[in-house]
Amino acid sequence: QHRKKMASSLLWICILLHVVKSEVCTEMTHNVCYCNGRNLSYIPDVNAETQILDFSFNYLPSLNQSFFPQLLDLKHLDLTRCQIHHIDENAFQHVRGIATLILTGNPIAYTSNSTFSELHQLQRLVLVDTGLFSIADVRMCHMTNLQELNVGTNRLLSISIPACFSKFKDFRKLDLHANNISVIRRDHTAVLGRMQNNITIILSRNPILHIETGAFRNIYLQELELRNAFVSCNASKDGLKALVGLTVEKLVLGRYYGDRASRVDDVHGSLAGLCLINFKEINLRQKEWTGRILPLFDCMSNATKVTINQGRTSFMESIQLRKTKELIITKSDIRVMPTEQLSHHHTLEKLTITESKNPIVFDYGFCDMPSLKYVDVSNNQLVTKKSWQLLFQETPNIQYLNMSFNSEANFDFKGLQGFRNLEVLDFHRTKISCVREYVDMTDLNRLQYLDLSYTGSTFTHPLSFQGLGNLRVLKMSSSLFLGDVLKHLFVNLTQLEMLDVSFSSIEHLPLESFGNLKQLTQLIASGNKLMSVDFLTNPSLLSLIRLDAAENHISAIPDNVLRNLPKTLQTLDISFNPVDCSCSQASFIVWIQNHKNIMKNWHDTYCRSDSTSTKPRVHDFDSEYCTHVVTGKILGSIFAVVFLLAASALVYKFQFHCFVLLKGYTTSQQTECHYDAFVIYSSKDESWVTGELVENLEKGVPPVQLCLYERDFEVGRSITSSIIEDGIMGSRKVIVVVSRHFVDSTWCRFEFEIAQSWQLLGGGSNIIIIMLEDVEKEMSRRVFGLHRYLRRNTYLEWKDNPISKVRFWTRLRKAVISKTET
Ligand SMILES: *[C@@H]1O[C@H](CO)[C@@H](O)[C@H](O)[C@H]1NC(C)=O
Ligand SMILES: *[C@@H]1O[C@H](CO)[C@@H](O)[C@H](O)[C@H]1NC(C)=O
Ligand SMILES: *[C@@H]1O[C@H](CO)[C@@H](O)[C@H](O)[C@H]1NC(C)=O
Ligand SMILES: *[C@@H]1O[C@H](CO)[C@@H](O)[C@H](O)[C@H]1NC(C)=O
Ligand SMILES: *[C@@H]1O[C@H](CO)[C@@H](O)[C@H](O)[C@H]1NC(C)=O
Ligand SMILES: *[C@@H]1O[C@H](CO)[C@@H](O)[C@H](O)[C@H]1NC(C)=O
Ligand SMILES: *[C@@H]1O[C@H](CO)[C@@H](O)[C@H](O)[C@H]1NC(C)=O
Ligand SMILES: *[C@@H]1O[C@H](CO)[C@@H](O)[C@H](O)[C@H]1NC(C)=O
Ligand SMILES: *[C@@H]1O[C@H](CO)[C@@H](O)[C@H](O)[C@H]1NC(C)=O
Repeated sequence: QHRKKMASSLLWICILLHVVKSEVCTEMTHNVCYCNGRNLSYIPDVNAETQILDFSFNYLPSLNQSFFPQLLDLKHLDLTRCQIHHIDENAFQHVRGIATLILTGNPIAYTSNSTFSELHQLQRLVLVDTGLFSIADVRMCHMTNLQELNVGTNRLLSISIPACFSKFKDFRKLDLHANNISVIRRDHTAVLGRMQNNITIILSRNPILHIETGAFRNIYLQELELRNAFVSCNASKDGLKALVGLTVEKLVLGRYYGDRASRVDDVHGSLAGLCLINFKEINLRQKEWTGRILPLFDCMSNATKVTINQGRTSFMESIQLRKTKELIITKSDIRVMPTEQLSHHHTLEKLTITESKNPIVFDYGFCDMPSLKYVDVSNNQLVTKKSWQLLFQETPNIQYLNMSFNSEANFDFKGLQGFRNLEVLDFHRTKISCVREYVDMTDLNRLQYLDLSYTGSTFTHPLSFQGLGNLRVLKMSSSLFLGDVLKHLFVNLTQLEMLDVSFSSIEHLPLESFGNLKQLTQLIASGNKLMSVDFLTNPSLLSLIRLDAAENHISAIPDNVLRNLPKTLQTLDISFNPVDCSCSQASFIVWIQNHKNIMKNWHDTYCRSDSTSTKPRVHDFDSEYCTHVVTGKILGSIFAVVFLLAASALVYKFQFHCFVLLKGYTTSQQTECHYDAFVIYSSKDESWVTGELVENLEKGVPPVQLCLYERDFEVGRSITSSIIEDGIMGSRKVIVVVSRHFVDSTWCRFEFEIAQSWQLLGGGSNIIIIMLEDVEKEMSRRVFGLHRYLRRNTYLEWKDNPISKVRFWTRLRKAVISKTET
């Protein structure tokens, strides 16, 4: 039977494996199907409504009519690197609705005239790396909706396109990168000249040797990319000149990163041709071009946007930017901020100088630049100790100032009038050397974004952010907050939407801090030492969507806080906190588990644990275990209650013994005896006690001092404590008068028991028993210890005849007076 079971489970595994294996395509969503990289030679069953089919990296040497199933909704077909050699006529008949066809990396032999004849809807055709020699080899004239043709990485010798392209109304982009184009003649560009729409042409990485002068005259292009497009510097120089009369929106020149360096000596003239081209925007990647290029900016002076990547210092020597609104210089080797060259430019609106290779000195200011709105000088290892008033003079319209990721900057915003329009100020990770206790920012009342994180700032003054009534984002990660400054710092920032106070060693965020922050949606307080998030209960936090409290010291969030969380909260991150996963916090943990949808980094929310190697996840906490523990606890408590009851019953029963035991230990040493003997007797035997016992002992010679509770006990003290403290402890001996009444009396039995306990403790009282009358054995058993006592010890028997009486009193007096045996 065992074997049968095993066989059947093996069978199931096989079936499962089969099912998994047969699912060759992954349908991400209903209409998207990925069958890539499976070396398939057929199209497996795909949803008939599939719109996107990625069938790249399979094996389809020959495509014929019956290959594609009917997929009328298909819009995007990717057949990259499927080793397609041959495509039959009508091969795409069943997928003729496609708008995008990608055939990259297939060694297609274009044999048929009607290969793509079905594809009237095509908008984008990608024939990269298909061994194409001429665009004319592909019949495309029926593709009247074509927008983009990418024939890069082929062996094309010419840029000429079929005449029918001039009728393609939406044609936008012709990508001819990495072909074998060395000559461009006027007749090659004739069709381009007839096209109405300004298209983008990419000619990068071609070995262009010669361009016929005027080949591009009166041609309008959106963009022309000529990176690494010429065989030599001479070719480049002549080629650019030959572009005379071209009008282009954006011109992209220069080299690709990592391309072989070209000759450096003749750079001077190589860009001279730029002056003959009309362009609005130029993007130049320089790197290997060295030397003085004086005409560079001359020819760029009419451009509105100039981007220079990896330029040399010498570029900056004579900047003539008549119309330039935007200047972007990245990865250059400039060492001094070109303030002198750029000052007095009235058109410049945006200036970006970032990622410079060398530390930039910024000691002289920009001056008289009334249009300047945007200044990004981040990432330059820049050091400046000058006051901002000196660095920006007569630049009243600066709205954006990004000083982040530099070495050191001053934040002496003395006289900030010049920055009245500032909206964004970013000092992220730039050390701020601040000369004063706090910066008066009251003039920056348009400021919306302020980043002072990782600047080494310390906040001591509660009014530091006074006047920033429009601030929406405040980032101050890794700051220091002294005293109770946090209570006041944010109170007037009523428009604040995002506050970042992470990694600032904050131990407590007072509830009052968020008094007026009704717009606050994001609060980031991770990496602090918070133990509680009680501040969340501040009713002002009406809009809070996200709280990041990861990496704090939070062990639990109490029920009342959980109940009063902002209603808008969608994300709560308490990962990497020492969450207390004991059953006492079970309700919190169950809350977490029930709110997985809002718990960010839920899988990194760990329980507090002593072992460093394995931290249990809150995720794995089994709350059922706690219900067991709770039942256990209930049982335990029931048991404990029962035990306590039993114990207290016992204690109650023997309370006086306990009392004596305790008392005995504490007082046995210092007890002073006031009486010779304490008499335990039943009140019903009182006549005998007063008539006989007192008469004979107290009035005899030497007199014996007796303690009788009815006569000697202080009024007002409790009888028990009197019995114990005065009677038994205060007397050297105890005389027990045993009679039937004695046996019947609870009090007497109790007193006798105490006396026995006291004697057992070595308290000293010797017990002398007088049998007033014959008590039956059965009866004596009712008094604890009496029967045994009588058996073991001698006792005095009272007999009502004169001779016995004399003997009785003599023996009794001797027993009372005799020294206490210890
Ligand atoms: C792909 O399949 C073909 C035949 O279907 C086979 O010749 C080829 O070796 C396979 N390639 C890989 C990588 O499995
Ligand atoms: C189409 O090609 C497949 C192999 O790829 C072949 O089995 C089938 O017979 C061909 N059909 C036609 C109509 O040529
Ligand atoms: C393809 O069409 C051209 C003209 O459009 C024709 O000259 C040529 O013979 C055709 N080739 C084939 C193989 O049909
Ligand atoms: C590029 O074209 C030239 C002729 O202009 C030819 O000699 C050379 O082999 C071609 N190069 C490639 C890689 O096709
Ligand atoms: C093409 O560019 C020219 C000159 O820049 C412009 O006048 C024309 O409107 C542009 N055409 C289109 C379709 O954008
Ligand atoms: C570049 O052209 C100049 C003349 O314009 C010529 O003297 C020089 O030899 C050429 N350089 C190369 C590498 O062809
Ligand atoms: C810039 O434009 C002015 C006229 O607006 C023209 O005279 C000048 O030649 C142009 N400069 C360049 C380099 O194109
Ligand atoms: C400032 O520049 C840094 C680095 O270039 C960038 O990451 C950051 O987003 C910029 N700050 C703003 C507010 O745009
Ligand atoms: C907040 O604004 C009030 C009224 O303008 C002002 O009295 C108070 O000093 C301000 N507090 C802070 C901390 O900016």
